[in-house]
Amino acid sequence: MTPVLKRIHHVEFAVGNAKQAAFFYRTAFGFDQIAYRGPETGCRERVSYVLRQADIFLVLTSPLRHDDSLSVWLMLHGDGVCDIAFEVDDAADAFAQATAAGAAALRAPATRGDALGEVTTAAIRTYGEVSHTFVQRGGYRGFLPGFEKREIKGTPTGLTCIDHIVGNVEDRQMERWVQWYDRTLGLGRFVSYDDKDISTEFSALRSTVVASPDRAIKFPLNEPAEGRKKSQIQEYIDANLTAGVQHLALKTDDILSSIAALRANGVDFLPVPAGYYERVWDRVGAVKEDRDRIRDLRILVDRDDTGYLLQLFTRPLQDRPTFFIEIIQRCGSESFGKGNFKALFETIEQEQALRGNL
Ligand code: FE2
Repeated sequence: MTPVLKRIHHVEFAVGNAKQAAFFYRTAFGFDQIAYRGPETGCRERVSYVLRQADIFLVLTSPLRHDDSLSVWLMLHGDGVCDIAFEVDDAADAFAQATAAGAAALRAPATRGDALGEVTTAAIRTYGEVSHTFVQRGGYRGFLPGFEKREIKGTPTGLTCIDHIVGNVEDRQMERWVQWYDRTLGLGRFVSYDDKDISTEFSALRSTVVASPDRAIKFPLNEPAEGRKKSQIQEYIDANLTAGVQHLALKTDDILSSIAALRANGVDFLPVPAGYYERVWDRVGAVKEDRDRIRDLRILVDRDDTGYLLQLFTRPLQDRPTFFIEIIQRCGSESFGKGNFKALFETIEQEQALRGNL
């Protein structure tokens, strides 16, 4: 038996300055701030701001003390994702099943409550220093116990839910983590890409996607592959010191409006190589959206046998070349933009070279 994961409840980031990070994600990506936890609410060690846009919940957390383990986490990895939380019906049961299947325990089940209800949580470790928390809400009427409502409205950019979350793992570790997700959390192998699919003249990676049975949760897992120069996955591992979350793909139903709004907000996207739009339509064929607007907004397009998708990737969102965000609109396609990998990797490599990491 493996736990039944209902949805991604939230993604938590460890950041050096949660107050400023919350401002950045609100103003750049259009999230609302909905809740806060900190010394004023009885939590003396850490502050957390909760941001929401439609079904996407992000928690930005900073340690307040030098001897907090999260301070060490930040020193080692810099700002990044420290936890991906799942909603489950029974957190103690999910924890028991996952640990019985070999997952390392991080926090044993504990129940906390306030006037709004009771929530039970427990956590296990995954790759790198990332964890998975099981959240059993039991009808709880706020975000989570310990948080108080503290609302600041953002201007939404049309982002609706988390489409997928990508983990970068060390060389030759991908297969181990693919099996780990299957065994401990019931996320089965969905699709694989080898280094012939994802390579340029210089560098390469391999990727396997694991997914929940209903495909609501999709986790691509990347590992570096041999190339003439350093894989972008190895650059990430070097900067992060270990495996970690590479990107969060956020879904929109109208990527033209979303990218226009995000660009107007100052979000910094990876440049699309010159010549991309001269070749793309031969590969992709007809799409509903206006081709000139796709080109003017520098959005990427790909097609597979079930449909097409539109996507775009930000540059890293902190100074280390680690975490970034993808914006994606699916029009029948359930894949991840394989046709764009090569076009985009050349851009990524140019940026790696500028950082002296190629
Ligand atoms: Fe992606």
